[in-house]
Amino acid sequence: MNDVLPDVVGVWQFLEQSAREIFSTYGFTEIRTPVLEKTELFCRSIGESTDIVEKEMYTFADKSGNSMTLRPEGTAPVMRSIIQNRLVAQDTVSKLCYIGPMFRYERPQKGRYRQFHQIGAEAIGVEDPKIDAQVLLMLHHFFNRIGINAVSLEINSLGCPVCRPDYRRQLIQYLEQRLEPLCSECQRRYQTNPLRVLDCKVEACRTATVDAPAMIDHLCGACDQHFTQVRRYLDLLKVPYSVNARMVRGLDYYVRTTFELVTDQLGSQNAVAAGGRYDGLIESLGGPPLPGIGFAIGLERLVLMLDQDAGSLAVPDLFIAALGDAAAEQAFVLMSQLQMQGVRAEMDFHGKSLKAQMRRADKSGAIHTLIIGDEELRSGQAQLKKMADGTQSSVRLDALVEMLT
Ligand code: HAM
Repeated sequence: MNDVLPDVVGVWQFLEQSAREIFSTYGFTEIRTPVLEKTELFCRSIGESTDIVEKEMYTFADKSGNSMTLRPEGTAPVMRSIIQNRLVAQDTVSKLCYIGPMFRYERPQKGRYRQFHQIGAEAIGVEDPKIDAQVLLMLHHFFNRIGINAVSLEINSLGCPVCRPDYRRQLIQYLEQRLEPLCSECQRRYQTNPLRVLDCKVEACRTATVDAPAMIDHLCGACDQHFTQVRRYLDLLKVPYSVNARMVRGLDYYVRTTFELVTDQLGSQNAVAAGGRYDGLIESLGGPPLPGIGFAIGLERLVLMLDQDAGSLAVPDLFIAALGDAAAEQAFVLMSQLQMQGVRAEMDFHGKSLKAQMRRADKSGAIHTLIIGDEELRSGQAQLKKMADGTQSSVRLDALVEMLT
């Protein structure tokens, strides 16, 4: 779990602001849910046989003996809230987004942490593949805006309760013939979660299953048509993508469209964003039979990909250096007035020498510096220095706000 320190927080704020701005253009509004939920919510939605539920949740009994879990993801809590607060009526689309911390007890490494942050979006109520394309367009737009181009979109279809069970049986039969070369994890899970084997990173598992049957070749008519339409709309909107028939998501609630935005810049943690459709999830949690689709972006992974120094520290517009106690008092009042007018002003609070104050002004990156001494107090005039080129101009202290805003 990491602190986000002041020298990188600017990047975080930039990413959060960009997401809020772009998502609102597409009609998404923010929802904030608690970081703690009943454990049962995640078992029922993410699935008992997934890595997240089997081994990664921060689960504990509270003082009343209820089993509680720090949210490992944002979709299930949003669905819980929708049901509880009756947020959607039939025949409408509800578009919700969120930014916040998630918790998974994973083995930490670059790009993988136990507390991490997601920016997520969920569109609920529409089965039409146009909404799949809209959600993917918005994701594409966001990455364009923040200037990350080294990502590619991979999509797949995981079918539905009509076509997947048959495919699953075929896949289990296929795997049974090839158990020996598989890693111990896959040997253990091929019955309970056979699709996950296709997604295993172990080379031996990949080689042994190169010709495994693919879900997209076994879709029912309705799913096949849906997937064809999603691709057609992505082409129409000029969103680049490729089909990855082996992509399987680590959460059980997905049906039909699933996708990942991957990069080769982060080593083995190559997904910077991921998501898909979860028609049936809301109903399985006791709500109305509404379809939904969404994604979540891993904020830490974005920060790793961006130049972290870019504009991260708050650079002052003005540093006021003062000579003597009376001037320091005047500088303090002036600085406070300027701050209230929206000017980023700074000064020294340690009674340092003028030379030391000027050094600090320089280090702070301040755009201007103002020196105030007894003479300036008497005349109400001072020299404003532009730090970039060292040029000075005489300014009236009472006209400073106008000059700097
Ligand atoms: P997920 O694939 O589990 O999906 O996570 C989404 C993204 O969160 C990942 O692609 C990655 O960028 C980031 N992430 C996941 N785990 C970690 C970690 N331990 N450390 C750092 N970053 C991490 C979901 O969570 C779904 N709820 C997404 C979704 C929304 N599907 C539909 N709607």
